Amino acid sequence: MNPKSAASRFNPKILLLIGAVFALVMLLPLGCTTSTGGGKDCPAQDSLCLTKEQFLAKGDTLFQMNCTGCHGDSGQGGDTHAGHTPPLRNSNFFMAQRLRPVRILLLGLPNIYDTATEITVNGEAYINHMSSPMTESNNLDIAAVLSFVRDSLNGGGDLITVKEVATFRAAYPSPVQ
Ligand code: HEC
Repeated sequence: MNPKSAASRFNPKILLLIGAVFALVMLLPLGCTTSTGGGKDCPAQDSLCLTKEQFLAKGDTLFQMNCTGCHGDSGQGGDTHAGHTPPLRNSNFFMAQRLRPVRILLLGLPNIYDTATEITVNGEAYINHMSSPMTESNNLDIAAVLSFVRDSLNGGGDLITVKEVATFRAAYPSPVQ
């Protein structure tokens, strides 16, 4: 065998290049989970790097698991076992105050901050009570499910970030038991 051709087959520069590309591919996911910035496709921002699609898919799953039983399969509201339940789809109440739904999920409705016993959603009055199924949930889950409701059931609007939920949660603490 000609040693020259063997050497050129394993050109060190090419090996180095392949090694560098391989290392980059392996490190990418690591950089993502530890990233503090997040790209513009990273609405979870802060400490997690989900794409917008992954974030909304997570919200969709949480919505199906926690909300449809009372608010209807597609969030249309109506008469369910929980009584007369307001819609989350195309809900003017939901969209009226960007972060109020965070408080509703953390504390139920009515709560010590939202004290009205009657709410009006799309012109219709609701006098029920909601004990949120997500009072124990983390900020990511709250942000994801509410972003799904905003984006998919209310025709868009900017998404709710994990950081916003954290800040809002701190501003409206649960009453001391
Ligand atoms: C056990 C039944 C039940 C479940 C489960 C439930 N809700 Fe509700 N929800 C209600 C009722 C009843 C009201 C109306 C409360 C009132 O009249 O003050 C309500 C009101 C709301 C409102 C305010 C009205 C509006 O249109 O914006 C929001 C926001 C809301 N729910 C979000 C959710 C989300 C998100 C989930 C799932 C994580 C969920 N709810 C799960 C029963 C429920």
